[in-house]
Amino acid sequence: MAKVKSKWICQQCGYETAGYLGKCPECGSWGSLVEEVQFDQKMPNAAANEFINTEKPVLLKDIHIGEEVRISTNISEFDRILGGGFVQGSLILLAGDPGIGKSTITLQTCGQLCRAGKKVLYVSAEESASQLKLRAERLGINSENLYIYPQTNMENIKKQIEEISPDFVIIDSIQAIYSNNVASSAGSVSQIRECTNILMHIAKSKNITTIVIGHVTKDGNIAGPKVLEHMVDTVIYFEGDKYKTYRMLRSMKNRFGNTSEVGIFDMQTDGLHEITNPNELFLNERSQVAAPGSAIIVTNEGTRPLMVEIQALVGTTSYPSPRRVTNGVDISRLHQILAVLEKRVGLNFSKQDVYINVMGGIDVNEPSADLGIALAIATCARDVVVDPQTVIIGEIGLSGEVHPVNNIEKRLNEAAASGFKKAIIPFANKIPADFNKINIVKVKRLSDAIVACITSLES
Ligand SMILES: Nc1ncnc2c1ncn2[C@@H]1O[C@H](COP(=O)(O)OP(=O)(O)OP(=O)(O)O)[C@@H](O)[C@H]1O
Ligand SMILES: [Mg+2]
Ligand SMILES: [Zn+2]
Repeated sequence: MAKVKSKWICQQCGYETAGYLGKCPECGSWGSLVEEVQFDQKMPNAAANEFINTEKPVLLKDIHIGEEVRISTNISEFDRILGGGFVQGSLILLAGDPGIGKSTITLQTCGQLCRAGKKVLYVSAEESASQLKLRAERLGINSENLYIYPQTNMENIKKQIEEISPDFVIIDSIQAIYSNNVASSAGSVSQIRECTNILMHIAKSKNITTIVIGHVTKDGNIAGPKVLEHMVDTVIYFEGDKYKTYRMLRSMKNRFGNTSEVGIFDMQTDGLHEITNPNELFLNERSQVAAPGSAIIVTNEGTRPLMVEIQALVGTTSYPSPRRVTNGVDISRLHQILAVLEKRVGLNFSKQDVYINVMGGIDVNEPSADLGIALAIATCARDVVVDPQTVIIGEIGLSGEVHPVNNIEKRLNEAAASGFKKAIIPFANKIPADFNKINIVKVKRLSDAIVACITSLES
């Protein structure tokens, strides 16, 4: 009988210690250490042994690169996220909030893969086969090559993978499966690590593309994805506003492609539909009448520019210290922009609440949004409007200067295509002399931008 000992493992970052600690010294989170029982004996990991026996060091010059086989999902938004389809034998983590639609998009993808003649094994650790069948019927999937396997035990799953030898394996979800090699319960860091390891060895040794679904909660409190991220080849987040129907796929890590890509979908009863022109979607929500505190920016998410409305609300505070609230923008970014507006433009926010909202429920993390945010705040504070036909692009430095941004032409093309007439852009950005799709105003400083964009006074 193996001796058993216990370890305390941080469920956020995987830090291990022999005794309980209230605060994790690694990631600083409180109450995240959980006791996990482990056998005090190296448990034979069959998959790992097989792997070790067959692999030997090879000289770099002797390595021949085989054709990198890409398998298209037939969903162009998804393909773009992956950098042109699934790489055969890769391990992909699809993470998202509970109920956001992870099983739906995965099942839809399975349907497409089967239609292309691939054999797919869908391991359902959370839902029964009949539940999956119901969903498949709702999504209109009736494939011949789709195996559904309700199972939570990793060893059983491994056996079935070997028997069926599919092209694709789906694990829905990694938090619900357990391996006999580890004593702690399903969903713990040790279980997730062990199961992912086994899956990785299967994927690499048998060249089976494996998609692992993982849950994340808002506070990231659950074991899993963070620990998983460095183990897998590709990490894709599935996000969205619970109260709206569109969803976004975002690649956070990709060993085989670009990582700043975003794919946008609309969630309907019959599944997720691709949105190929997201600008229509985001700008449709915009009020047609110009209002103080609104500015349109052009962010560059991956290879595609996105036009987004930023709204600001500035008002006299009734709190001892004024409020700063952001939705879709990092709060420290707002603090910095406010500081620059105070120091370099002379606005005063010491008794003003400031709220920032990015319309459409998307997150804008790009510095090129700075100028738009600043103008939304400035126009709201002065009760004037930004011309609704104008887009605003630029990063703001601490001394109030406007820094150039990347991919400027692509952004301008998109703005012109969406019917905008004027663009305020950084002075240092180079534009071909014959570029005439949109009226361009170059600004060096934040104060120039404010002068350039305010067209009419409203009282
Ligand atoms: N009959 C239906 N008609 C329309 N939409 C539905 C229907 N049933 C479910 N949905 C949508 O699908 C979403 C759930 O999708 P799905 O089960 O794929 O999510 P998930 O991320 O896998 O969730 P979980 O965390 O429970 O595994 C619901 O939030 C809802 O928006
Ligand atoms: Mg699910
Ligand atoms: Zn930790």
